[in-house]
Amino acid sequence: MSSQLSPAVVFEPGSGLRTREVALRPAGPGEVEIDVRAAGVCHSDLHIVTGDWPTDRPLVLGHEAAGVVTGTGPGVTALSPGDHVVLSWFAPCRRCRKCVAGQAWLCTGTKAVANTLPDGSTPFSDARGEPVWPYLGLGAFTDRLVVPETAAVKVPAELPFGIGALLGCSITTGVGAVMNTAGVRPGESAVVVGTGGVGLSVVMGLRLVGADPVVAVDLSPERLAVARRFGATHTLDGAETDVAAWCQEHLGGVDHAFEAIGSPRVIETLPAMLAPGGAAVLVGMAATGATGSFNLFDLADQGKRILGCNYGSSVGEIDIPKLARLHLAGRLPLDDLIGKVRPLTEAAEAFDDLRANTGVRTILEP
Ligand SMILES: NC(=O)c1ccc[n+]([C@@H]2O[C@H](COP(=O)([O-])OP(=O)(O)OC[C@H]3O[C@@H](n4cnc5c(N)ncnc54)[C@H](O)[C@@H]3O)[C@@H](O)[C@H]2O)c1
Ligand SMILES: [Zn+2]
Ligand SMILES: [Zn+2]
Repeated sequence: MSSQLSPAVVFEPGSGLRTREVALRPAGPGEVEIDVRAAGVCHSDLHIVTGDWPTDRPLVLGHEAAGVVTGTGPGVTALSPGDHVVLSWFAPCRRCRKCVAGQAWLCTGTKAVANTLPDGSTPFSDARGEPVWPYLGLGAFTDRLVVPETAAVKVPAELPFGIGALLGCSITTGVGAVMNTAGVRPGESAVVVGTGGVGLSVVMGLRLVGADPVVAVDLSPERLAVARRFGATHTLDGAETDVAAWCQEHLGGVDHAFEAIGSPRVIETLPAMLAPGGAAVLVGMAATGATGSFNLFDLADQGKRILGCNYGSSVGEIDIPKLARLHLAGRLPLDDLIGKVRPLTEAAEAFDDLRANTGVRTILEP
């Protein structure tokens, strides 16, 4: 057991968000040690803090991160100390039917969503030796991690760590929703409701594939101004506009309607935005157990589709380096998604940035 304690941003049932000292055990078989260099603050962290996704255990938050490999456990062959990596929050088991079929984003064997390492353990303990658990199998709001090698994807060393961090969740999810889940083609129309870090990545992906027009909807005028910079051709205030009526009147319905909030009330309005044959893409994650209702005759009669979207239907080892290469080639301005950069000690302020619905993504640096 390592005796070194590091500050970590922990959510505890009962007492909420606070900074605690945690110890990290060394990497075991199939595991790697990571020096965290940057971590983004995503609404999926906020879902834990708000209680949308209840937890009965203390969790080290943070699941959108990049860093450097500092050590490898027995049997690790794909990574070496010094490698720069993006962390994936959905470490695939590589054995289940979905993994074998090349659909790692649907892995049924992952333990990440149970907030443990693949063997059900945690690498973290507190000063009294009590376990503290890694959110989504990572727990990146601290300076050192142990993760399965399947959760660490090697990227070029010239990729800035802040961009690498956002490739760990929002960018891969948002751009993947466009390219993989929806398969948007040049000239197809789209609406994106909710333009936070994930929705703005959807807008960026739509520009990359040549979608047009691209309608961005948010409640925040500042966010809508950013969406225009990212390639939205039209922006609408979701509180003042009946978006479905607008899409039907001005565009005859859209080919793709992306929701990037996680609001059942908004998700229910997506099919009415669509042209016949169009697809509603559920990127936002609703609270545990949330339900919604749709006009079932309209769905069947108009051939409309509803697509779930976990992690942008991405395979980490393929999609993360691909997006990194597109950025390094000047095709995706991923640096535009980075807003404030704060030290880990300002985690509470970073969550306030997220709640404020202004600007772009806040990055925490240990
Ligand atoms: N599918 C996945 O694998 C995946 C991955 C990452 C995040 N997510 C989910 O995506 C969602 C968005 O994450 P984020 O980090 O971008 O969040 P965010 O808080 O940065 O952005 C949400 C945006 O929605 C806007 N909004 C809220 N209510 C609205 C309404 N009624 N109409 C229009 N706009 C509204 C807000 O102003 C904000 O700009 C979350 O639910 C998150 O958990 C899903
Ligand atoms: Zn996320
Ligand atoms: Zn699997």
